[in-house]
Amino acid sequence: MRISDRLGWLYHEKAFAREDEGADPSFYASPRLVSHLDAVALATVESLIGALAVEPRPAILDLMASWDSHLPARLETSRVVGLGLNPVELEQNPRLDERVLHDLNVDPTLPFADASFDLVLNTVSVDYLTRPFEVFREAGRVLRPGGLLLVIFSNRLFPEKAVRIWRETPESQRVHLVEDFFAEAGCFERPRCFLSRGQPRPAQDRYAGLGLPSDPVWAVYANRLGAARVRPDPEALLPPAEEPALVEARRARLPETLCCPHCGERLLKWAVPQTPFTEWDAEHLYLCFNDLCPYLVRGFTVMAAQGNASFSYRLGYDRERDRVSAIPVYSLRQLRDGIVEEH
Ligand SMILES: C[S@@+](CC[C@H](N)C(=O)[O-])C[C@H]1O[C@@H](n2cnc3c(N)ncnc32)[C@H](O)[C@@H]1O
Repeated sequence: MRISDRLGWLYHEKAFAREDEGADPSFYASPRLVSHLDAVALATVESLIGALAVEPRPAILDLMASWDSHLPARLETSRVVGLGLNPVELEQNPRLDERVLHDLNVDPTLPFADASFDLVLNTVSVDYLTRPFEVFREAGRVLRPGGLLLVIFSNRLFPEKAVRIWRETPESQRVHLVEDFFAEAGCFERPRCFLSRGQPRPAQDRYAGLGLPSDPVWAVYANRLGAARVRPDPEALLPPAEEPALVEARRARLPETLCCPHCGERLLKWAVPQTPFTEWDAEHLYLCFNDLCPYLVRGFTVMAAQGNASFSYRLGYDRERDRVSAIPVYSLRQLRDGIVEEH
């Protein structure tokens, strides 16, 4: 497939090479009846699909499917087709009405009629496609006008099977690869981006002791052109913000408590980096370093919806001037070096 000149330099011949170029059906020959994300992230995936599937009793194609399509129990469907490589995984998937074994890297043509689905899903698998431009175009072909292509991914992968450009692109930039796949298909509205990041990891998870937050859930999604279809804003999936009255009351007591108005956790004294670009006139600020603060967690999703991937704010407080401000962060680790006083 010809890629437009704008993108040809990036998606060069080697971009879709893999460490393991062996046949995919051999790699996926043993069933993996495991979860690829932690329970909190899986619940977010399910809620996201439930929120965006607005069609009554949609016909769904789960591309690169396994034993779980992550469809909410309350979502009634008219037809669910799973296309994947492992027959046992597909057999174990209780939501599937039809199961299709098909290697998309050998033949990206989807064995379905034009305009036969309302929703095409692809969950934690886009990184394994060696011919994504063709697959996205095909997804557009099999979608009805106004239908949705929803591509969900995280930051875990089988490195030997992920394509080189995905591995070499930083996590926060991978949304742009997926946006390119959509754009080149030529049959989608402008894609939107969703990110859920920094939510608490479930206590029973095997990595819980490491202090890691839940696996991030990224999604890029767009309607097929040809019919207007409004879908709800996935911000509705975010953990609830604190009650405004409580936030206001905490804000009023901030000068004496030094506790975050949004989560109630004690702020930490932080040295403002002195660079020619520093905008704050204070030498120190007090920052909320709670990684689960709703102000920070919600910020990632809100900013991603506006096209600012992987970026949020920590709450900062200038004690001398009794002023609250938003301090931008790109990662949870960032700014921690500046903490001068732990409590
Ligand atoms: C990480 S799993 C994700 C499975 C499922 N979508 C989920 O959300 O749990 C990747 C899946 O992609 C499928 N897959 C990998 N390469 C494929 C290919 N070339 N053609 C079709 N499916 C493929 C595999 O069968 C495997 O089940």
